[in-house]
Amino acid sequence: MRPELTCDELLTTTRSVRRGLDLTRDVDLDVVKRCLSVALQAPNGANRQSWRWLVLTDPDLRAEVAAVYRRAFDDRNGPPPPSPPAPGDRPARMAADARELAAKLHRVPVLVIPCLELDTSELPAGSQASLWSSLLPAAWSYALAARTYGLVTAWTTVHLDREKEVARLLGLPPTVHQGALLPTAYGTRTRFRPGPRRPLEEVLHVDGWRGGTGVHHRTDRVGDRAHGRVRDEIPEEGRV
Ligand SMILES: Cc1cc2nc3c(=O)[nH]c(=O)nc-3n(C[C@H](O)[C@H](O)[C@H](O)COP(=O)(O)O)c2cc1C
Repeated sequence: MRPELTCDELLTTTRSVRRGLDLTRDVDLDVVKRCLSVALQAPNGANRQSWRWLVLTDPDLRAEVAAVYRRAFDDRNGPPPPSPPAPGDRPARMAADARELAAKLHRVPVLVIPCLELDTSELPAGSQASLWSSLLPAAWSYALAARTYGLVTAWTTVHLDREKEVARLLGLPPTVHQGALLPTAYGTRTRFRPGPRRPLEEVLHVDGWRGGTGVHHRTDRVGDRAHGRVRDEIPEEGRV
């Protein structure tokens, strides 16, 4: 059954789901295709639509890609800590969840790898933002659309440390560049809460950098963060 979600709910409660994945339930390729059709309405540079969508359903292929993901994850994170995360230790909990996802990735029924096909095998110098903006909004639309079908996804990129190995497995030409890997499965639940985020006033700058209501506060906190003092409040995004 498709969950009924308001727009706000959809946008504020679509999480990176690593634990609540129903690994026993198949995902129909047609449903994934419907979500991808939604994604194709995202903005992209000059409407060139250089995106390419690799959808992996074959168990052997998923296992091979998952093995690369795990190697990249282990290289980056080392062995697991000796004890489970203490209650309330959010970063440690997130790291443990990420490790669990890495361990079971081969069992996730669908892996979606959004890619960009460019003219060159080297990423062009210059604005990476405008380059990747022709893919990543669409990839997020896919995650949102999937949610409306009762599916859950997790945004992951750690395999990009070994991007070429995955490219070889999938037969990607050198001009195809991977942007993420989105494990996709039915969720063991369909409702989630908003995630922990800095309040808007800490990150808002109106009419220039110095126009932020919390500019000085924010700078202090970034300094604190570098020394690990606010680690329990702010998840380190982009790292696992
Ligand atoms: C650029 C980027 C890279 C990420 N890479 C990974 C990853 O490789 N593995 C993983 O388990 N989660 C990864 N995440 C998920 C983040 O850790 C997650 O979004 C963050 O902890 C916030 O949780 P939430 O999305 O549930 O709110 C990534 C997210 C982003 C945006």
